[in-house]
Amino acid sequence: MELLGTVREIRQAVKAARLAGKRVGLVPTMGYLHDGHLSLMREARQASDFVVVSIFVNPTQFGPNEDLSRYPRDLDRDLALCAAVPVDAVFHPEVGDVYPQPFLTSVRVAKLTEGLCGASRPGHFEGVATVVAKLFNIVRPDVAFFGQKDAQQLAVIRRMALDLNLDDIAIRAVPTAREADGLAMSSRNVYLSPPERQAALVLSRALKAAGEQVAGGIRDMAALADSVRAQIAAEPLADIDYVSIVDYDTLQPLERLEHGRALAAVAVRFGKTRLIDNCILEAQ
Ligand code: PAJ
Repeated sequence: MELLGTVREIRQAVKAARLAGKRVGLVPTMGYLHDGHLSLMREARQASDFVVVSIFVNPTQFGPNEDLSRYPRDLDRDLALCAAVPVDAVFHPEVGDVYPQPFLTSVRVAKLTEGLCGASRPGHFEGVATVVAKLFNIVRPDVAFFGQKDAQQLAVIRRMALDLNLDDIAIRAVPTAREADGLAMSSRNVYLSPPERQAALVLSRALKAAGEQVAGGIRDMAALADSVRAQIAAEPLADIDYVSIVDYDTLQPLERLEHGRALAAVAVRFGKTRLIDNCILEAQ
């Protein structure tokens, strides 16, 4: 496994792989890897011949009140996990190499970024879309892997790739990896105190119940969202940011689900830690 610290080096490595006829897969991450990230890497290992993992804590997607310096990091552990998959290259650039100064361009995807997490994290998805567009241009993968856990991010990246003609890069969604008790894996889980960790189980429980309701024939999404909200609000340590049921593609609020897919998405604070989770609702 190669560890490459500059844009120049990763471009050379990918060029060599492509000349050898290999299909290039990219897994973008911010590091502090857990089993959720590893499921993306394993899927990439299956679906491509040269797997690149990027580890880059992207400063432009953090708001002024979100502590970038507090984001957990452990490069040595991350490299050992990548080597065990195994992946072929880890791209770990410096901020200055990714964002030469002055940096005056950014990618803003309208509409999809306004609701859900976009409402409480202004500028966040602009930072995500910008860095992912840059990573796509630097690596030029054949296929890139993203987690369903960040459903809004996935929708934004799909739209960005279509709108900017990066549509020769296939985008693969990987299901949310969960702890045995249902908690969605996240780098932020390490911040939870034991009582908060226990309380956070209400998210996966409430979402699972919503999925069962839809499978049982419930079509009134406004009422279903109210019921999910009530279940979460009953947990004293939970402080709700949003509970929404939206159209899967447009992310616009959905009153009724008669056919196709919807997304039930939640963002809830437990102490200082904001967790997100979601599930796909499907009307048969
Ligand atoms: P990060 O939070 O490190 O996540 C990297 C990838 O892992 C994302 O595609 C995310 O959806 C996926 N992931 C995280 N937890 C998961 C879980 N429990 N199950 C499945 N997949 C999971 O998301 C980012 O970094 C950044 O915004 C990035 C796309 C790298 C741009 O900076």
